[in-house]
Amino acid sequence: MSSVSTDGHYDLVVVGSGLAGLFAALKAREHGASVLVITKGAIDEGSTKYAQGGIAVALGADDSPADHLRDTIDAGAGLVDEEAARILCFEAPDRVDDLVQWGVPFDRVDGAITLGREAAHSASRIVHAGGDATGREIELTLSALAQREVTVLDHTLATRIVVEDGRATGVETFTSTNRERHAFGAGNVVLATGGAGQMYRTTTNPAVSTGDGVALAYAAGAEIMDMEFTQFHPTALVLPGEPVFLISEAVRGEGAKLYATDGVRFMDKYDARLELAPRDIVTRAEHAEMARTGADHVLLDITDRGADWLAARFPQIYARCLEAGLDMARDRTPVSPAAHYTMGGVRTNTWGETTVAGLFAVGEVACTGVHGANRLASNSLLETMVFAQRMVERLFDAGVGAGAPPARSADALTLLPALGDHAIPSSADEVRELMWDQVGIIRTGPGLRDAAVRLARWWGGMPEPISREGYELRSILTCARLAAEAALRREESRGAHYREDFPDTLDAWRRHLVFREPDARIQADIAGRREGVA
Ligand code: FAD
Ligand code: SIN
Repeated sequence: MSSVSTDGHYDLVVVGSGLAGLFAALKAREHGASVLVITKGAIDEGSTKYAQGGIAVALGADDSPADHLRDTIDAGAGLVDEEAARILCFEAPDRVDDLVQWGVPFDRVDGAITLGREAAHSASRIVHAGGDATGREIELTLSALAQREVTVLDHTLATRIVVEDGRATGVETFTSTNRERHAFGAGNVVLATGGAGQMYRTTTNPAVSTGDGVALAYAAGAEIMDMEFTQFHPTALVLPGEPVFLISEAVRGEGAKLYATDGVRFMDKYDARLELAPRDIVTRAEHAEMARTGADHVLLDITDRGADWLAARFPQIYARCLEAGLDMARDRTPVSPAAHYTMGGVRTNTWGETTVAGLFAVGEVACTGVHGANRLASNSLLETMVFAQRMVERLFDAGVGAGAPPARSADALTLLPALGDHAIPSSADEVRELMWDQVGIIRTGPGLRDAAVRLARWWGGMPEPISREGYELRSILTCARLAAEAALRREESRGAHYREDFPDTLDAWRRHLVFREPDARIQADIAGRREGVA
């Protein structure tokens, strides 16, 4: 087996304890596997805990997985991998049932699970828990189970995937509480590290979402895809000096309207679906209205619902707004866009396999192609479970998914060479400002080129990290470089990627941009030959 195991060896080492990681860990445990979960903060810290709207699943009498699939493909702006999306929508009911069996208390009326509505869905199909506390209920339930069933190492960062002879064989770690370093051997390694929203100044994502999994996989020679596509959520509450707080799309699903600060209800100028148009469209509409009025926000109005109704349906949101002095039952709420979801990530097939043998990726860190250029609301929690389940089946059920892992891309791209003039960003905030201004909602060629060069320069000056912050800055820089360079090369507009200088969507660009680290090529080439991959 592996020669790296200085601190223990496990059948599966899972990096991350959001829904993707915990679901994979618990399912692997059901197969009798020994499982180590490594997680950067407290076990419950990650985007999962903050999820509000819920999970998309076709359960209604007027709904079907085929309709869910159609909506997913439509939202994805021509880049959705239809096979992956079919799996997502058709396996959804079984995965939601897994959560029910594990005890997640979904909201019900007369025993039947309640179905909410969100943008770009043609039916009410969002299951939720605790009103708008879906993620908290899921994370609480699964983390309690995981602490009984598997070994969990918290406040510990994965800092390197160990690759030997082209195969991932373990993980090196750094524990932030005592600064110890360890290495764990693994039969297989699973990245479940979530997204990279923290590469932007304004984000709904928690502090742990620094894109570590993408950076670790890239350094290990895995392919990274679609990084030009970051989803900006249109309705975040952004108050000076306070963490950004999401106002769920489900609020618009319940009828909330958007107004510019001069009182004009504006969505009819942009899309016939009005406030329930896909997120990329609503976000750009807000951006245009904010530019027109000169305000830094627009206004969300759900004042036609009473305080009691709001407190019951959206308890967290209503309470948070009250804390900020905003009574949604009386006042229009100021909202503006925030980076929310990383559509791109580590390229995988529909079994969670990356292009490096023994290395898997599931959840937001992965790019199965299921979201294309713009994720449909509430398909993310679902994706984590559907592909974690399949990964476990592939690993532990003999014969399932047999065949070659994903072939390496013949035309994979490489990043600009790092420019070694020892310039370093003063802090991650400098990277975040740059990304927000130049690789954000509206992009231009000159802005992207300038960003790509500055990021390559900063990369060249980066010292070897010696702290959690240092590792996170390295991850943020890696993801930022991949996003900026992909966005620069994609000379069109599609889904969440909007180029002012190339505003049209072009058939020639109906393809993915894939990056691979050239220095890691030798390791990955060996893996490719071993698995019989071209
Ligand atoms: P996460 O839940 O983010 O977990 C990542 C884990 O990896 C964390 O435990 C983190 O600490 C750990 N980690 C990261 N780096 C390292 C490292 N180097 N070493 C060790 N551990 C590491 N989606 C929906 O479908 N429905 C919703 O209603 C919804 N609402 C949302 C609301 C908010 C505010 C946000 C931010 C997102 C929302 N999303 C929603 C998106 C969804 O929550 C996420 O995409 C999903 O939870 C991702 O799950 P995950 O397990 O992949 O990652
Ligand atoms: C929300 O509740 O608006 C977030 C849903 C999602 O990101 O899927």
